[in-house]
Amino acid sequence: MPDKLRVAVLGAGVMGKNHARIYHELPEAELVAIVDTHEQAGRALAELYGVHFYPTLNELPANAVDAVSVCTPTSTHHTVGLHCLNMGFHMLMEKPIAATVEQGAELLNRAREKNVIFMVGHSERFNPAVQQAKKIIDAGELGKITNIMARRVGPFPPRINDVDIAVDLAVHDIDIINYLLKTTPQDVVIHKRKTNNRNHADLVDFFLRYDNMVTAYIQTNWITPLKIRKLNITGTEGYIELDYITQSIEYYKSTYERLPANPESFSDFVLMFAQPLKKEVVVERAEPLKEELRYFINLVRNGTQHDAQYAVDALKIALYE
Ligand SMILES: NC(=O)c1ccc[n+]([C@@H]2O[C@H](COP(=O)([O-])OP(=O)(O)OC[C@H]3O[C@@H](n4cnc5c(N)ncnc54)[C@H](O)[C@@H]3O)[C@@H](O)[C@H]2O)c1
Repeated sequence: MPDKLRVAVLGAGVMGKNHARIYHELPEAELVAIVDTHEQAGRALAELYGVHFYPTLNELPANAVDAVSVCTPTSTHHTVGLHCLNMGFHMLMEKPIAATVEQGAELLNRAREKNVIFMVGHSERFNPAVQQAKKIIDAGELGKITNIMARRVGPFPPRINDVDIAVDLAVHDIDIINYLLKTTPQDVVIHKRKTNNRNHADLVDFFLRYDNMVTAYIQTNWITPLKIRKLNITGTEGYIELDYITQSIEYYKSTYERLPANPESFSDFVLMFAQPLKKEVVVERAEPLKEELRYFINLVRNGTQHDAQYAVDALKIALYE
């Protein structure tokens, strides 16, 4: 393997531009090509970084590339992904892994057969606030987790026209909750519908039940005029409020042992609950996508195996009817 990982970015849209910028910035990678079926978009991005442009994957020379980032629309992930795996490229696939569970499973199997590294870009895992919350949970500081509540709402992005909101957005939250709980749910209840959008569901609520009486609720829509990305985690010994956008955490430790058995007045009672023990949590901000790409590059350079089954697990729930 050359010193720098030689990477091609497939798809020069919103995410492809970010992948290209980051590979160009990272010293351990070399952006070598852009592929996009839309010539104008692909050529403009390739020119920006002085790299090759190819209008189709067939033209991408196998010996010039070690790895690819697939940033094409979800409906193309299966075809584009199989092509890249058959070429023997290591592959970072933007989330979700594919449009159906069968397609995702086929990609996983093909990557195993070809013995290449295949990662799926569930970028919220690399949000420093999530990493910090995971540390607190894994250290047992919240006690036993009892429930998790996620909100990912905001206006509709018109470029997403191939999948519904569950597959496009809720898949992030499903994956994060599975990641934090280190398991998948036993039961799924879903409420999904079209409101403002005629083609695809733009509102979905999930209620997930995990082992040991742990529950999760996910509210996602493309209706709320304000972009909100939040996660609340409740445990027997504490509570976390996480904001993905500001990358911040509020962490409250339970203080039940301090509560007198018989508060003397209602105002005593209110005061007690108005003063929870708030713990300071410092989150060092970082660009999640940059952390994700660094992680992928290291996997490839160190030849570390990576099992992307989590991406199929999340998609399976996102597609639940
Ligand atoms: N990780 C995240 O937070 C995040 C955020 C947004 C989008 N995404 C994912 O990234 C993917 C792309 O989304 P986007 O918003 O960048 O889309 P986009 O529409 O902005 O860009 C897609 C680009 O792919 C090109 N394209 C289409 N088919 C192609 C093919 N067969 N070969 C080469 N190029 C092709 C299009 O011409 C377009 O330029 C989606 O799967 C989406 O779910 C992830």
